[in-house]
Amino acid sequence: MKPTPSKSTARSENTAMPGTESKIGLDNFFSAVSARHDRWRDLARAVQAWAGKGGQAGLKTECARQLAELAPFESLQAFPGTRLMRALEERVQSGDAPGALRLVQRVASALLSRAYRGELGDVDTDEDGPGGERTGGQRDTTGRPYFEALFVTPAPQARWPAQVQNIRKLRRAQDEFIYEPVMVGTFEDAVLAVILNANLESVVIYDGFPFSSAHGVPLFKDWLAARLELDPAETAGADLGLLLARAVKRIRPELDVFFLADRKPDEIVSDPAAAGLRRVFYEVEEPLEIHLSILEGVSERFETPFFDNLKRYAQKPVGTFHALPVARGKSIFRSNWIRDMGEFYGPTLFLAESSATSGGLDSLLEPTGTIKRAQDAAARAFGADHVFFVTNGTSTSNKMVHQALLEPGDIVVADRNCHKSHHYGMVLAGAQPYYVEAFPLVEYSMYGAVPLSAIKKALLELKAAGRLEKVKLVTLTNCTFDGHVYDTRRVMEECLAIKPDLVFLWDEAWFGFARFSPIYRPRTAMGARAALQEAFADPAYLARYLAQEKALGAELDPADPRVLSTRLVPDPRKAKLRVYQTNSTHKSMSALRQGSMVLVGDEEFVHHEQAFKEAVFTHASTSPNQQIIASLDVARRQMELEGYELVMGSIQNALDIRREVNHHPLVSKYFRVLTPAEMIPAEYRSSGMESYTEGATWVDATRAFREDEFVLDPTRLTLVCGTAGFDGTQFKNLLAAEYEIQLNKTSRNSILLQTNINNTRSDVANLLKVLVEIAKGIEQRLKGGGEPARETFAARVKSLMEDVPDLPNFSRFHDRFREDPRGKTLEGDMRAAFYMAYDAARCEHVKLSSPEIDERLKNGPPLVSAHFVIPYPPGFPIMVPGQVLAADTIEFMRKLDVKEIHGYDASLGLKLIRPSFLGEAATPPRGAGKTIRAQAPATPLVKGKAQ
Ligand SMILES: Cc1ncc(COP(=O)(O)O)c(C=O)c1O
Repeated sequence: MKPTPSKSTARSENTAMPGTESKIGLDNFFSAVSARHDRWRDLARAVQAWAGKGGQAGLKTECARQLAELAPFESLQAFPGTRLMRALEERVQSGDAPGALRLVQRVASALLSRAYRGELGDVDTDEDGPGGERTGGQRDTTGRPYFEALFVTPAPQARWPAQVQNIRKLRRAQDEFIYEPVMVGTFEDAVLAVILNANLESVVIYDGFPFSSAHGVPLFKDWLAARLELDPAETAGADLGLLLARAVKRIRPELDVFFLADRKPDEIVSDPAAAGLRRVFYEVEEPLEIHLSILEGVSERFETPFFDNLKRYAQKPVGTFHALPVARGKSIFRSNWIRDMGEFYGPTLFLAESSATSGGLDSLLEPTGTIKRAQDAAARAFGADHVFFVTNGTSTSNKMVHQALLEPGDIVVADRNCHKSHHYGMVLAGAQPYYVEAFPLVEYSMYGAVPLSAIKKALLELKAAGRLEKVKLVTLTNCTFDGHVYDTRRVMEECLAIKPDLVFLWDEAWFGFARFSPIYRPRTAMGARAALQEAFADPAYLARYLAQEKALGAELDPADPRVLSTRLVPDPRKAKLRVYQTNSTHKSMSALRQGSMVLVGDEEFVHHEQAFKEAVFTHASTSPNQQIIASLDVARRQMELEGYELVMGSIQNALDIRREVNHHPLVSKYFRVLTPAEMIPAEYRSSGMESYTEGATWVDATRAFREDEFVLDPTRLTLVCGTAGFDGTQFKNLLAAEYEIQLNKTSRNSILLQTNINNTRSDVANLLKVLVEIAKGIEQRLKGGGEPARETFAARVKSLMEDVPDLPNFSRFHDRFREDPRGKTLEGDMRAAFYMAYDAARCEHVKLSSPEIDERLKNGPPLVSAHFVIPYPPGFPIMVPGQVLAADTIEFMRKLDVKEIHGYDASLGLKLIRPSFLGEAATPPRGAGKTIRAQAPATPLVKGKAQ
């Protein structure tokens, strides 16, 4: 276990400020909002100490130092604003400790309660003023949503207050929202504001400002250079306005960017860097136009076409003669027996229920109205070309994509550890899976993610066997249940170098939120697609490819070892970007359960749209739930407007849990949250980043997210509980039964905790309190029980932590299900095996404990699974239809101590396909000396179908 830094060390990491410490705490990078709250809280403590000690000079210096560190960052926020900051500085300078304390407390509490939002005018410097009240105006009592707009201006700072006043004067009673302007004067400050000010929704850029910030932020400069790939020296003569616009869109693509220049607007618009601009103004344009454009941009994101319409629909008096008695709620509210249902859900739910597709409600199967517009808005928000809402979860989304893309016989390179919907999707589509293996984490009985080398090997093997043409799709889970995140760009690049028309299905069931964090985004399917689109258009990329072609040839030779070891680039003139992403919106955003989306970024989509529609028709319910559709619309709105802040919050909570659990003197004796170093073998972490809480900096994190083959999503926390004597299921049940803490996944010796946009810092505190309580209980039991108790405990821990079964790899499909039984490639016709098992006469059951199993493992005939067998945990199929079972799979099954195993009934045993139906009877079992008689004649396999 790692040494436990003192609380004060951990705290100083949190509060480190650019330019003042050698290391910048990771929190400042991942979660600027909470880090800001912490800094104000720390300042409040310092001022309190100063005030308490009768204004001691040393303490005053500390307060002044902290305040000076804070000032550059606070200049990027509308609140507390210049006046209040200046007043605070004056209080500190003049030695007025009590006055300073009152002001600091006021700011800290206004930030925490968000009371400053919705105040109009400059902030009052009255120390006793409540919340964040401003002078020169009054509180906005209309409850309009509040945001901030960044104005990047070359005007001298002395003129900013007047400019702010002029912008405020543009406010009108009928404005839908209220915003405060924030002024900055340089490129660097603007970028810093976009990163640190989560209230921003719009950026207005006036051309002609300088690059360098007046504030000394040296480490920030490093970060900026790494993140934006900008060399400050190169930016000297560049068009900073457009460069900034591009930088803003890279960091937070959802923000509206307006550009004002005294050049002709058409000159600007023709610049490719202007692609992300919402509107270009000629500088003398009416300020009111800018104001209205800012509001219009936010209004567009705020609009939820389907939800808005559903709300209107619910107000209308409607007579229903369709099937759905709960619509309008009359069958419920007039009932003698089920009125409590109405009371529980309230009338709105029933007023908003309908099975009609008219009246503005649109049809999910053939959307042309509000659903279509809601889907288009989601496409904009998630960076896709098209989005399809799905009301049956990502289980259905995945099956839709498989069906839409695959024809019987197509080969799919798939992570065997992927969600079962992919395996079933391939069965239904008649596709042949070529299973690739994720790296195992045997110690914790779980898998990681699939190394790129394994994927490349699979493709090269298929190429060598002349079967590459059959490969249509690569499907991978990003991120995995346990938090392994791929380098999506690199995977697609290298695969496209081997086969330029491959399609990718990234199952981002858990990762939809990642779009809204600049650190995660490049590692999402759509983030990587955008980066590749840009790269493919760059002549330098073609040059890279041509150099590779010279070295390795245009036709990559699978026998050439350099092909595997080289980081390949595709020919950008040939490669097609065909990317699909599925996400369980309900898992990471504010959508109702089963709300899911399919994102399409497929440049060939026009040729496949019909197939996609057919897949939707096949799998979507004809009675989709209106509330789920509406919630998808609303979830999108939320993420586009506040996703950036919310995602930061969930990361912050995760970092807090990591730090608190691993550093708490008692809790860390029995529990620990696994670090990136423990979850990802070193060979996949070229950056060397080991931990999120032990001294990692902005720069480290940026490098890891840029370079490493896999990174760990910090919000997915594997908490080892085997060291506390609990297996995963036991601990999960204990948390649920005794402490009302719920979670999804467990392994033999761990549980998976995850933070999302719903968690608060109170949840974190509660979790820690519970772990402290449990750890204390263990201590007491061990103390009370003496040596025997300690021995039993140690034996239990050893069994959970050391006696872990090896994780079995996929063995192979039986030759009967392989098109080329003599070949080496692994793919197989799983559907044929699946349907073969439909007739009970073709199947047999053999008990796991039966000696027949060992006998057949040794001497045949092979044991061939008739079923998917999926134990929970770990939740992936350890047997698939048609798979020849190997000794390690049997051993794993025998050691498995979980209760829930889908596809396996212990009282019957393993369900196998009878050897006679596999043509095995023709080969007498070797060595056994006994004949296993054929039960029926061998059935010939017709491609894609068992007869
Ligand atoms: C990787 C992955 N994909 C897909 C799904 C299915 O998603 P849903 O529950 O939305 O049907 C899950 C569910 O846990 C999953 O873990």
